[in-house]
Amino acid sequence: MSRLVSLVHEHLREPNSIELRGTADNSDIQAETFLNQNVNLVTRNWGYAAYPEYQNPELLSALSSIYNVPEENLMITQGGEGAINRLSEMFCSKDDAVLTHGPTFFSYQDFAQKQGAHTLDVPLIKTGDTYKLDTKGIVNAASDKNYNVKMLWICNPNNPTGTYFEPHQVFDILERLKNKDVAVIIDEAYIEISGKKSMTEHIDKYPNMIVMRTLSKAYSAAGLRVGAIISGDTDFLDIARKTPPFYSASEPSVTAALELLDPSKQEEVQESYKKIRALRRALSRSISNELNIKVDQSDTNFLLLHVDEPEQVYTSLIKQHKIKVGDPNLLSIGKSVRVSIGESLATNLKLLESLQDLREQTSLELPKFDHTN
Ligand SMILES: Cc1ncc(COP(=O)(O)O)c(C=O)c1O
Repeated sequence: MSRLVSLVHEHLREPNSIELRGTADNSDIQAETFLNQNVNLVTRNWGYAAYPEYQNPELLSALSSIYNVPEENLMITQGGEGAINRLSEMFCSKDDAVLTHGPTFFSYQDFAQKQGAHTLDVPLIKTGDTYKLDTKGIVNAASDKNYNVKMLWICNPNNPTGTYFEPHQVFDILERLKNKDVAVIIDEAYIEISGKKSMTEHIDKYPNMIVMRTLSKAYSAAGLRVGAIISGDTDFLDIARKTPPFYSASEPSVTAALELLDPSKQEEVQESYKKIRALRRALSRSISNELNIKVDQSDTNFLLLHVDEPEQVYTSLIKQHKIKVGDPNLLSIGKSVRVSIGESLATNLKLLESLQDLREQTSLELPKFDHTN
């Protein structure tokens, strides 16, 4: 039994065959009259009466070529959150712990708590305008039998800080946890935007590693709810696919996702990441140099600004300038505001001018950039 399979709840390891209650028609004979569907007489012919195909083969094939992994190493999920939920359900119960590196994406802890699991956090180490993983602290916590850590989440690039953790740090953790009873999950929701290499090319080297991807960020397609779990352990993925609920991407989602993933569109998509990176560099420089606001180094499509009154910045930007930025109450890091990169120089300029205006109009305290920090 593989390490990942051994970490899965025992009762999920031998699930009922999904063919028994699945959606696919296993018969060789094509039916002409459908009396197996409970449908409205008016809308039955609008095209959505049948349940969608589970793990749609065309979408599987498109995702496998975009992510450059064999189909057998990939499972379609209901967006990134669907992946986090599925993995938390498979691995965690009340005697287990889930390890994170705060500040990071809040759902890892939310879904762990939903399973009754404990949550442990080894905070990031701040160095200047960026953050590092506390590799020693993480490996120690993940290896400590008293904690019973089942899952370790590494969010790379990290939300909300925007940090891309250096590969040597991630490899160090993977090497040292290679033979431990812990699943290491790398959340790469923002990897395309960073332009950095994905860990998917190392799935065979690290059998206890799982990589999570989503179309929500890289393709601006959060509405589709399409994501993926990628692993070198095909036995584990077989169980993941056969664990209820048998989520299927809806037919409109499959159609739209196939359109986005069409090979003819990918060059344009890649170009847009380059544009975001250039706009981000310019915006970040202006915010720190011209406005003296402390901003973290980012490899994503957003910047984390450190301000003394995040609530005031948030409400003033929307009320006075009709600019909506990330709600600071939803951030797992205090005294900061998360701002997405605008799609053009003009949008970013509007943000800069509005921040400048706020500073002049109100008693707003925007801390000075500390070059010695
Ligand atoms: C780091 C990270 N992982 C996962 C997700 C969830 O992805 P999805 O929107 O596809 O559910 C998000 C969404 O904000 C995220 O920021």
